[in-house]
Amino acid sequence: MENFEPTIIAFVCNWCTYTAADLAGTSRKKYPENVRLIKVMCTGMVDPKYVLKAFLQGADAVLVSGCHPGDCHYINGNYKARRRIKLLHSVLGNFGINKKRLRLTWIGASDGIEFAETIDAMVREIKAEGPLHTDLKQVI
Ligand code: FES
Repeated sequence: MENFEPTIIAFVCNWCTYTAADLAGTSRKKYPENVRLIKVMCTGMVDPKYVLKAFLQGADAVLVSGCHPGDCHYINGNYKARRRIKLLHSVLGNFGINKKRLRLTWIGASDGIEFAETIDAMVREIKAEGPLHTDLKQVI
């Protein structure tokens, strides 16, 4: 398990977290390369199926990150995302998938450092958890 490098799929809002990730890069703030960013226009468009598919296709963890509450460019998309993540936490729990493997964060466009620190912390946490072994495939 020492050499385990988790794969993290991150669905990031175009207006906030994606811009923060870009800022981290242009500020030369390093973060682990375990993360694969998928830019979406709003966290409200992250269908729970996308999260399940990410796990089915080998993700060890999934991050959904967007604008702070009240700052969503589509008014309430991030509130929808919050409700969906809560639902997914209970569904995934039934398959023995720890809540730590699905995280929702709010990272604003100017928070490049926070983005890098979030990815860093998530990678450390998932490394400690180990690879994801799930029977999710047998159920879906
Ligand atoms: S536009 Fe960023 S979360 Fe909705």
